[in-house]
Amino acid sequence: METKDEPLVVVDNLHTYFPVRAGVLQKKVADLKAVAGVSFHIKRGETLGLIGESGCGKTTLGRSILQLLKPTSGSVYFDGADLSKLNAGELRKMRQHMQMMFENPYSSLDPGMKVGKIIAEPLQIHKLASKEELDDRAREMLVMVGLEADMTERYPSEFSGGQRQRIELARALTLRPSFIVCDNPLAQLDVSIQAQLIELLTWLRNWRQLTYLFIAHDLALVRRISHRVAVMYLGIIVETAETDELFGNALHPYTKALLSAVPVPDPAERDRRILLLPGDPPSPINPPSGCRFHPRCNVAIERCSQAIPDLREIGSEGHEVACHLA
Ligand SMILES: Nc1ncnc2c1ncn2[C@@H]1O[C@H](COP(=O)(O)OP(=O)(O)O)[C@@H](O)[C@H]1O
Ligand code: SF4
Ligand SMILES: [Mg+2]
Repeated sequence: METKDEPLVVVDNLHTYFPVRAGVLQKKVADLKAVAGVSFHIKRGETLGLIGESGCGKTTLGRSILQLLKPTSGSVYFDGADLSKLNAGELRKMRQHMQMMFENPYSSLDPGMKVGKIIAEPLQIHKLASKEELDDRAREMLVMVGLEADMTERYPSEFSGGQRQRIELARALTLRPSFIVCDNPLAQLDVSIQAQLIELLTWLRNWRQLTYLFIAHDLALVRRISHRVAVMYLGIIVETAETDELFGNALHPYTKALLSAVPVPDPAERDRRILLLPGDPPSPINPPSGCRFHPRCNVAIERCSQAIPDLREIGSEGHEVACHLA
């Protein structure tokens, strides 16, 4: 798993807020700070795993990086270009290089469209292929993701969950992007199907020099595919390190809680885990003062409710932690 040193994606102090509205006039009364000051980079060919409880802002962060959601402030640089400075036409062009793979191919694949058309649609939108080429490319993409070329004529309902996720991947790859945000792409699939897809994603990454932001609930999957992992809590990154370092030597109390979470007994909910933490995650509308984790942290000291801990390098190279006690 070789990566080059130069970053492909640089996220600098990114904030994305949603307005909270109330009353008959639906006036804005507050901001829901889904992403509240995130900075990191992803090197070319690297996979950064992103973990954290549901609602902590992972999807919003992924969509904001791709400018599918307009960030409130901060910058995202892709291949050196500041995406916030591009006009609509330039951004559309840049989008070819950055794609998103969604969580639920049951809702993201149009049931009324043939699979070949779904896969070739991005080429059509970007006017990058003639009519004849569209079908050829769709067939080529299907083979690349381990399906059969002739499946272009079928509808999504004729495929299993794992096959649909392969179709979703084929669609994300059609434009030959260099960066893909994989948003929890393997949720709801059987363990054996997940393993096959992780292998496919890894193989494609190595073959095509792809860079991934890989968001998932399942820590074992994140561990298998990621070079580095970032841990998100209530809109910010609280810890980031090389994968083995993070799983073997977590320093932030929240990361430790995540890693020691116990699976929910119901196999249908095997992606969910019970965190051994007091209380629920606080609201991103009014996050706690100081360290946002302090109301649930079992080692908090007085300072934790007053001063915000910076994300700083501690111990081994590239291991960053935002905790006063680390
Ligand atoms: N379109 C939206 N409008 C308003 N609030 C949103 C929207 N999307 C997400 N949120 C809120 O932003 C926060 C982060 O959500 P999300 O990014 O989906 O988290 P995750 O992917 O980690 O589960 C949550 O509090 C969620 O309710
Ligand atoms: S800064 Fe304080 S409250 Fe936050 S994680 Fe560290 S010890 Fe816990
Ligand atoms: Mg999400």
